[in-house]
Amino acid sequence: MVKGWKKTVLKMSLWLVASTIVTNVLQAQTPRLTLDLTKAETPVSPMLYGLMTEEINHSYDGGLYAELIRNRIFKDSKTSPEGWSLVKKDSSSLVAIKLIAAEEQVPNDERRNAINGALQTCLRLTVEKADGRVGIANEGYWGIAVKPSTMYNASFYIKGTDRSEPPRWPWEPKPTTPPLPVIENNTAGPITVSIESNDGKTVYASGTVNLIKSTYWKKYQLTLTTAANIQPTTDARFVISTDRVGVYYFNLVSLFPPTFKNRPNGNRPDLMQMMVDMKPKFLRFPGGNFLEGPMLTDAFPWKETLGPLEQRPGHKGSWGYRPTDGMGLLEFLLWCEDIGAEPLLGVFAGYSLNGDHVDAGPLLKPYVDDALDEIEYVIGNVNTYWGAKRAADGHPAPFKMKYVEIGNEDWFDRSGSYDGRFTQFREAIEKKYPHLICISTIADAQYPKLKVTTGQKPAVLDEHYYRDSWEMWANASQYDSYDRKGPKIFVGEWATREGEPTTNLNAALGDAAWMTGMERNSDLIIMSCYAPLFVNVNTATATATKAWQWDSDLIGYNALSSYGSPAYYVQKIFSQNLGNSIVPVIAENIPMQGRPMSKRDSAEKTTPKPVPTVFYSATKDTNTGTVYLKLVNTTDKDQPVQINLKGVTTMSANANTIIIKGNKPTDTNSIIEPEKIVPAKSVTKGVKQNFEHMLPPYSVSILQLQTK
Ligand code: AHR
Repeated sequence: MVKGWKKTVLKMSLWLVASTIVTNVLQAQTPRLTLDLTKAETPVSPMLYGLMTEEINHSYDGGLYAELIRNRIFKDSKTSPEGWSLVKKDSSSLVAIKLIAAEEQVPNDERRNAINGALQTCLRLTVEKADGRVGIANEGYWGIAVKPSTMYNASFYIKGTDRSEPPRWPWEPKPTTPPLPVIENNTAGPITVSIESNDGKTVYASGTVNLIKSTYWKKYQLTLTTAANIQPTTDARFVISTDRVGVYYFNLVSLFPPTFKNRPNGNRPDLMQMMVDMKPKFLRFPGGNFLEGPMLTDAFPWKETLGPLEQRPGHKGSWGYRPTDGMGLLEFLLWCEDIGAEPLLGVFAGYSLNGDHVDAGPLLKPYVDDALDEIEYVIGNVNTYWGAKRAADGHPAPFKMKYVEIGNEDWFDRSGSYDGRFTQFREAIEKKYPHLICISTIADAQYPKLKVTTGQKPAVLDEHYYRDSWEMWANASQYDSYDRKGPKIFVGEWATREGEPTTNLNAALGDAAWMTGMERNSDLIIMSCYAPLFVNVNTATATATKAWQWDSDLIGYNALSSYGSPAYYVQKIFSQNLGNSIVPVIAENIPMQGRPMSKRDSAEKTTPKPVPTVFYSATKDTNTGTVYLKLVNTTDKDQPVQINLKGVTTMSANANTIIIKGNKPTDTNSIIEPEKIVPAKSVTKGVKQNFEHMLPPYSVSILQLQTK
C-alpha cells in the first residue's frame, strides 16, 4: 500500500511522465484550427467590451479628474492641511498657517468661517509682519503638471479679517483658546497667484486678483498662461501670496488645466483618449468597493456629488483617502457620453465592506427609494423631480441606460440577506422601469449556496475573477460548458494579476487567453470589464504616501503623462477587431504545458493539470466579410498553426495582421518606458482556405481575413 507523501510523489511522477508524453506527442503535430464559416450564426454580444471604474489608486483625484489642487477644501486630514505649506522668507517666524474646522468649535469669530455645510474647514494664514512675499503653496497630486502654452483656470475663496469681536449670545461661554494676535487689518489689495517650481526660482505662470476690503467670503478667478518655451514638468507648486500683514482665510482652491472637450470640471484629455480608443460599449460605475464604502454610512453619496463644487463635501471613500466627489454622478454620465459608452449604474444595496447589512423590508426601503431617485436622475425625463434636477445641472436629455447592478460582490455577505435585498430592489426598479435589467452580484456558479432564489431568476449575474496567468490559461474555456438556459453572465471585474503597478506581458497573455474564451462564448457573456482601470504610479514622497492601493492595473500615469500596460493594448485591439457573429472553431492538437504547483494546489493537495499553450477565437463581420482570428502563443517558441476556413470560396491572399509580443514574460511598459510593448501592424501573405501561420513567442495576434 502506498501512503501519504509517497502516494503524492508517485502521483506527481506519473503525472509528469504522462504530461511529458502528452506535451511531446501533441507538440509533434501542428495545431489545427478549422473555422466553420457555414455556422457563423450566433451573434456576438454588442456590449461585450466595456470599462469598470471606481475611486481607487487615485483614479479620479490625482487621476482622470483634471483638478490639480490636492485637498482643495482642507478636509483630507482633521489635524493638518495636507498638501499645503507655508511660503515665506526663511528668517520670518511671524507667519503661520492653520487648519480651521467649524466643528472644532474654536472661538466664535472662527466659527463664522464655514462657507456652508459642505465647506466647513478652511485655511488661515496669519501674517504678523510682512517681510517680502508670504503665502500658501499646494503641492498638487505628486506635483503639478506644467506644460508649455497652456491656460490654467484658477479660482479660490478668500477673505481678510476685521479682527473685531463677533456678537456673542449671553449664554455662550467665552472662548478658551488664546485670541489671535491683534494685527492691523491691511489685507485688501493685490494677491498674487502663480504656478512655479518647487524651489520658487522659476515662475511658469502668474497673475493677480484684487482682494477687496470685506470680512465676507468672495470667490476670485483668473487664468494663468504658461510660455511657449518651457519644458513640461511635474516639479511645480501652486502659490497664493501677499506682501501685506493681516489674517487671510482660504477655501475651495482650484486649478484646472484644459480638459477633454473643454468640459468645465472635466477630465484629463490623454486618459479620455485612451478610453475612446478602446471603443468601450459601457462604463460600470461607481464601483466596486467604492460603491459600498467602509460602513453603511459611507456608501457613494450620489446626491452630495451633484451641483456646484461648493456643495460637495467629499466623503470617506473605500481606499484610504478622501475623495473630493468632483467626479460626481453627472460627471460619470458625461464621461460615458464623451467616450460613447452606456452607463451601467451600480446602486448601493444595503451591504458595506465591514460586513454590515440592512435586512430586506421596511429598513431597506429608504435605500431602494434612493436608488429609484438615482435612476430617475439618470434616465427620468425633465418632468420628473430628479430629471428636472439633471436638466438644471445642464443635461436635459435623459441618458440611455439598460442595466442596473444591485450592490457589489454581495457574496461577501454570508448572512444570506442578498436574496431578499436583491428581490426588493429588483421588484421596485422593474415596476417603475420595466425596460431595466437588474444584475445580481452573486454568481450561481461561484456561490451556489448564496444565489438569489426568490421570485424570478436574475437575468444577468456578475462574476469576478482575479487570477494569475496559469489560472487564466487553465480556465479560458470555462464558459464553453456553461448552461445556456441559465442567466446571462456579466464578467464585471477580471484581471490577470502579474506585474505592478501596471501588469506585464505575461498578464497580457493571460488576459488575451481569457478574452478568447469570452468571445467564443459571447452569446452567454454579454458584457465584461477589466479592473482596476487606472493607477497613479507615484511612490511615496516626503509629504505624500504611495499613490496606489491595488497592485495590478491597466493604465498608469503621473501628473504629466500616461501609458497603457501590454494588457491595455490587448484590450484595445480585441475591442477594435470584433465581428458581429461568432465563428465556431474546431481545434485539434493544441499543445499543452505542465503547470507548476501553486500555493492553492499545495494547500488543497491537488495536482495541477496541464494547460493549453495556444488560445484562439474567431468572429465575423457579416457586413464586410472580415473574419477576425485571434491567436495567443504563451510560450517562448515560435508556434506554427494550421488554419482551415470551411465554407469560404473566395478570399484575399493578404491579411492585415496586428501583433503584440515581447521577449520575456516580465517585459512591461512604464512611465519611463511607455511603449516597450505596443501593437505592430503587418501583412500576412499567402492566405487561403488552408494555410499555415507562425505565431511568434509570447504573442497575441489578430488576423483580419477578408472573405468577401
Ligand atoms: O478592483 C478592485 C476591487 O476588487 C473592487 O473594488 C472590488 O469590487 C473587488 O473586490
